[in-house]
Order: sequence, then structure tokens, then C-alpha cells
Amino acid sequence: NAMLSWQRTGFHFQPPKNWMNDPNGPLYHLGWYHLFYQYNPDGAIWGNITWGHAISKDLINWFHLPFAMVPDQWYDINGVWSGSATILPDGRIIMLYTGDTDELVQVQNLAYPANLSDPLLIDWIKYPNNPVMVPPPGIGTTDFRDPTTAWVGPNGKWRVAIGAKVNKTGITLVYETKNFTSYELLEEVMHAVPGTGMWECVDFYPVSTTEPNGLDTSVNGPGIKHVLKSSLDDDKHDYYALGTYDPISNKWTPDDPELDVGIGLRLDYGKYYASKTFYDQNTQRRLLWGWIGETDSEAADILKGWSSVQTIPREVVFDKKTGTNILQWPIKEVEKLRSKSTSYQKVILEPGSLVPLDVGLATQLDILATFDIDTLSLESSLEADVGYNCTTSGGSSSRGVFGPFGLVVLADESLTEQTPVYFYIAKGTDGVANTYFCADQSKSSTAPDVTKLIYGSSVPVLHGESFSMRLLVDHSIVESFAQGGRTVITSRVYPTKAIYSAAKVFLFNNATGVTVTANVNAWNMDSAHIDYFPFGNNDS
Ligand code: FRU
Repeated sequence: NAMLSWQRTGFHFQPPKNWMNDPNGPLYHLGWYHLFYQYNPDGAIWGNITWGHAISKDLINWFHLPFAMVPDQWYDINGVWSGSATILPDGRIIMLYTGDTDELVQVQNLAYPANLSDPLLIDWIKYPNNPVMVPPPGIGTTDFRDPTTAWVGPNGKWRVAIGAKVNKTGITLVYETKNFTSYELLEEVMHAVPGTGMWECVDFYPVSTTEPNGLDTSVNGPGIKHVLKSSLDDDKHDYYALGTYDPISNKWTPDDPELDVGIGLRLDYGKYYASKTFYDQNTQRRLLWGWIGETDSEAADILKGWSSVQTIPREVVFDKKTGTNILQWPIKEVEKLRSKSTSYQKVILEPGSLVPLDVGLATQLDILATFDIDTLSLESSLEADVGYNCTTSGGSSSRGVFGPFGLVVLADESLTEQTPVYFYIAKGTDGVANTYFCADQSKSSTAPDVTKLIYGSSVPVLHGESFSMRLLVDHSIVESFAQGGRTVITSRVYPTKAIYSAAKVFLFNNATGVTVTANVNAWNMDSAHIDYFPFGNNDS
């Protein structure tokens, strides 16, 4: 539907049409990045799940390839569901994925490239003796899915984690294998968190606490922590925790039990789910993909003919400064799309001010902004807004002493449509200031049948740091990163007026008690080239 074409993104990955969900099996092979994804070839809603396939040299510009796998066997006839790639030391590629069988049982299947020397990895072979894992005793037939990338255990065998649940307890099962065709379930689960329900798309990987590079999945030892991530089927958010993995006992223990998986930190506080990392051996980075779903109605998705985009891949590292979280940051390759830049330095934002920024076409932007407040007024002031909560405290128009202040994007001139992204400082009786980072969708669209939540969470701001945010704006998506990626929010919005040249950007300060000084660098972003692979194009 051309009427809604402005909602399509310019530099985020999307198939040409139809439904997409989870990113699957990301990997780098012979010069190409591969992304597979859950795809419905027949429409803009979930169903007929097939593996879409695209390749890229830089993770930004993509070629669409033929489907990698379609539901055509008894063990995946109801869907070729999510899975992960493992690259073996000899270069072979193992793909493990969940199949929804002819009897609606969730099983794990093995697939591999027909021709490893094909950089495009066009043809995939499903192992003839699939499935290789079936739901074990005590696990429901529909509670067993999404195998991780494998890692090597101390006995030299490979280990694969699979999400499941027992009653309301979300769990991570681990299987061992020598050959990827026969598997043995380890008796004890790697981790379990009561009350969190079914764990989908478990992700498990090491991060270095000392080095800036990412780590291959099997690496362990001193100076390493392990991230465990789960996508909670019950509330559709991705939660992670930092912890320690003991390979001998195969137990993962959270650093802080109060911030365990599913009850503590989220990877992203916005519309974001079913994420997955991979180790990019080409650049030694740990890279994270995530699925941005829709927050409008299914009817609207059918009308526009497509549903969902993927985030810009994010590099993941351990945050050495706080020690309590990871940092997520858009891969540097996205900066190749930056064109004209605009800079505003030392903009003084008195309480209650709104300042338009002339950044040119504002539908595709990369914006870096820092904000400084008078620390003396913060130190001398008494408690304010104790118990602040992004979602329930009234959003960007509700004024407190120290917030909100930040940016308004995808706004029309009159601000009937607007998506504010902001900081809000609350100060407790203990004198400690807590900073929140929020995105307010409540006025993002005048369209009906759109869910318009306000999301966000607290963000650590260390002594001497400015408040800083980076926003990637792309027509109907805003990815927002606070303090170098400590807290991240993806906004899915549906402007109807703030489109094309009518889209504007503003700085605002709705705090009553502080003046804010802002510095902004904004770049217009070129579109990425995302197209079909030019097979059979022999033009020279
Ligand atoms: C997560 C998920 C996975 C499953 C896939 C099916 O969004 O439900 O658990 O494998 O999507 O499309």
C-alpha cells in the first residue's frame, strides 16, 4: 500500500514484503555476513515460517537470497523456527534450528551448507536423520526451542543450550555432543528462574572484562564473564544478566541474584525481542541482532503488506566503568551512511524551553547529544520524584525539578505528533540522584489502533559524566542509546504527519528546577542498498 510507504525504513534491514520475526543463525563466511530470519512467504502476519536469507559485506547494505530452508519435512512442516550457527574449528558450519513437527511437537534439527566453498551459502541440506533432539521427559512438547550457538566443554564435547520451562520456571537445558548428530542431555539445568515462564531464544556468550574485543563463544577463563539472555514468552521482552559460568558443573551464576535473567536488566526497553548475538571472527566483535515488531494492528500490517524490521546490529562489550551491565552500540559501519552534518554547541535550555533544530530532512538521522546541568543545584536540592518510573510517571509533558530534558524526533511543526526521548533525574531521601532514560510514544501518531506506551529504565551516570544519548531515526523506528549504550530503547512509531520534509527535531527541557546546556551533532543518513542479489546479471 503506497499510502503507508513512508513507514518503510531507509537503512534498517527489511525483506521487500511480508512478515518477519526473529534473526536466525547470523555468521560470517568467506567475506560475507549472513543473516537468516523467520519469514512468512505468504503474508504480513506470522505463519508458514521459512528461513529468509540475506548477505552483506558490511552489515548495512544487503542482498536478498533465495530462502535457505522451507517447511517441507515432517519434522518442520509447521515451521522452520529459530536457531543458531556454529562454526567448527575446521571451518564447517553447523546450523541447529527448531522444527514444529506434523504433530506440533518442538524438536531440534540439524542442517548444513551443501557447498562450503560457496560464499553465498545458497543451498542447505537438512540432516536426513532429523530430528536430533526431542523434548525430554518432564518438558512439554511445545516448551522446547531455539538452540544456541554451541561451545566446547572441558571434556572436548560441544554444548548447546535450549530454552524451556517447568511450570512457571524458565530454564536453560544443555545438551552435549561430539558430532552434532547425537546428543546427551546434561542432568542438571544450566540455570533456572522461577516465575519467568517459557524462555525463548536463549543466548549465552562470554565477554571480556579487560579487553575491548569480542570473544568466540567457547572462550572462558580469567577476566571473563558470561551473559545469559532469555526472551520471555510471557511478557515479550529480552532480559539478560551478567554472571559466571563454571564449565565443570555447567552452572551459570548471576553476579547479582536480584538482577537475575528475566527479573533484572533488559537488553532494550522498547519494542524489541528474540535477539541473538554472533561472534564476528572477521573483526573480533560480538554483534547483536534484534527483532523490532509492530505496535499497530494486524489489519494495518496486512494493509501495508509488511511487518517488522531488524535493528542496526549492535556491538556488545562489558561496561568496565560500571561493572554491572553490558554496553550496546550501533556498529561503526552504519556511520558510512552519514552525509551532511549539523552541529549545535552550548545551547542553553532554560526550564520549559523547546528549541527547533534545523537538521534538514529529519526522517533518517544519526544524532549524538550531550546534556549538562548545574551540579550545584542538584547537590543542594532536596529529594525529588522518588520512585520515578518512565512508564507510569506521566511521560515527557509531566514536569519535575530535574527533568525531563532531551530530544523530540519525528515531530511535526505543531507537535501533534512527536516522539520525545529524554533523561529524568529523581533524587532519593538518601541524597542519591537516579537518572532515568525514557522514550514517550504516547503522542507519536494520530493513527488509531496503535499501542503508544512510554518506555525506559534507569541508567547509570557516573561522576563527571555528561548525560549523553545517541538516536538512530529511520522513518518509523528510533533506536536510542544512553550513556554509550548502558540503557537502550527502541521505539516503533507510526507518524502520519511527521513524515518526509514535515518531520522535525527539537531540543526540550521540561524540568522546572534546572537549566540544561546541550550539544548536538546530527547527520542526515543515506539509505542503505537492500536489494535482490543480481543472479544471472551478465552485464559488464
Ligand atoms: C520467538 C519465537 C521462537 C520460535 C520462533 C517461531 O519469537 O516464538 O521461540 O522459534 O519465534 O517463529
